[in-house]
This record gives sequence, structure tokens and C-alpha cells, in this order.
Amino acid sequence: MLSLIYARSLDYCIGKAGQVPWHLPDEFAHFKRTTRHHVVIMGRRTYEDHDTLLPDRVNIVVTTALAYRAAEGVLLAHSFEEALALARGADREIFVVGGVRLFERSFPLAQRVYETVVHTTVPDGDTFVPRFDFSGFRQEILERHPTDSRHAFSFEVSSYERVE
Ligand SMILES: NC(=O)c1ccc[n+]([C@@H]2O[C@H](COP(=O)([O-])OP(=O)(O)OC[C@H]3O[C@@H](n4cnc5c(N)ncnc54)[C@H](OP(=O)(O)O)[C@@H]3O)[C@@H](O)[C@H]2O)c1
Repeated sequence: MLSLIYARSLDYCIGKAGQVPWHLPDEFAHFKRTTRHHVVIMGRRTYEDHDTLLPDRVNIVVTTALAYRAAEGVLLAHSFEEALALARGADREIFVVGGVRLFERSFPLAQRVYETVVHTTVPDGDTFVPRFDFSGFRQEILERHPTDSRHAFSFEVSSYERVE
């Protein structure tokens, strides 16, 4: 099964200056919990945001650079198709975790999308997720998280399951 997972702002921003534009520990915990023991496919820029192996999962980084060097244990692919072939070989659930091109490319194949909406806007954001058409999907709200001392913004986590 192939899923997408991301967190976006109210204005669909997912990134700013190579990083995620907020620090929300419980949202990151949801990402880790959901993807643990599975396969994560990510673009080279998303990988460089953390620059290490995400533990307890198969990491695949997509880049056109044939001589790219990533951390030990990270698998490299040079196209989305190659990443998928590698991922399918691992016989686990596959998560596309960003960025934009890989989300666009994988959405038509996705059975499920985990979307977190962060209740803020990012006026100087530079990376935006597409406004996916979720008709044909069933939405389930998994969590409504309030603002608190560790979370400057509230957020809502949904899963969209393809039903058609
Ligand atoms: N909020 C979230 O949930 C979330 C999730 C993920 C990322 N982000 C943020 O989004 C930003 C990064 O996303 P991005 O869209 O700019 O970049 P990205 O997709 O992570 O990386 C782009 C690079 O990936 C490689 N790539 C992507 N698709 C490819 C393909 N089909 N074939 C070969 N190579 C391919 C290319 O690498 P080369 O240039 O090396 O060829 C491309 O330049 C960062 O700010 C990150 O923090 C946020």
C-alpha cells in the first residue's frame, strides 16, 4: 500500500528555506509513529532537512545526482519509478514523505493520505503542497490538537482513504 504524509498550513505551505516552518513535537510524533517499520520515500531536499537516517524504517532518497552521498543505510533512487521498485522489494507499507514533485507524482497511486492542517499561515513560505482533490476519498479526523506550551499552533490530523 502507498500513502502520502505531510503537514501543511492553512495556505498549503509545507516548507520555508529548506525546513518545516513550525516546531510541533506531537505532530512529529504522529509522523514517526505512523511511518515506523515502513518505507519512507523522500526527495533530496527533504532528506537534507535532517541529513540522517530516520531510524526503524527503510529510507529511500530520490535524486538525479548519480554520485550523491547520503548517510549509511540510506538507499538512493534516481527516479520515482526506481524508488517504488526498491520500496516494493522491501514488502512493507510505503510512505511518500515529500516534497512537492513526489507528492504530485504519487497522489494518483495513493490509497491513503495523512494530512495535518496546521492552523497558521506562512507568508514567506516557499514550498507548497498541491490542493489535492479528495473527492473519492473518505476523511477520518484522527486528532485535534490544541495550542499549548510546546505547540505554538493548533493542528488537526486527518486520514483520507481512497474509496472509489
Ligand atoms: N511539512 C511537511 O510535511 C514537509 C514534508 C516534506 C518536506 N517538507 C519541506 O519541503 C521542502 C523540500 O521539498 P521540495 O519539494 O522543495 O524538495 P524535495 O522534493 O524534497 O527535493 C527535490 C529534489 O528531489 C529530487 N527529486 C524529486 N523528484 C525526483 C524525481 N522524480 N526524479 C529524480 N529526482 C527527484 C531532486 O533532487 P536533485 O536536485 O538532487 O536531483 C529534486 O531537486 C523543505 O523545506 C522541507 O522541510 C515539508
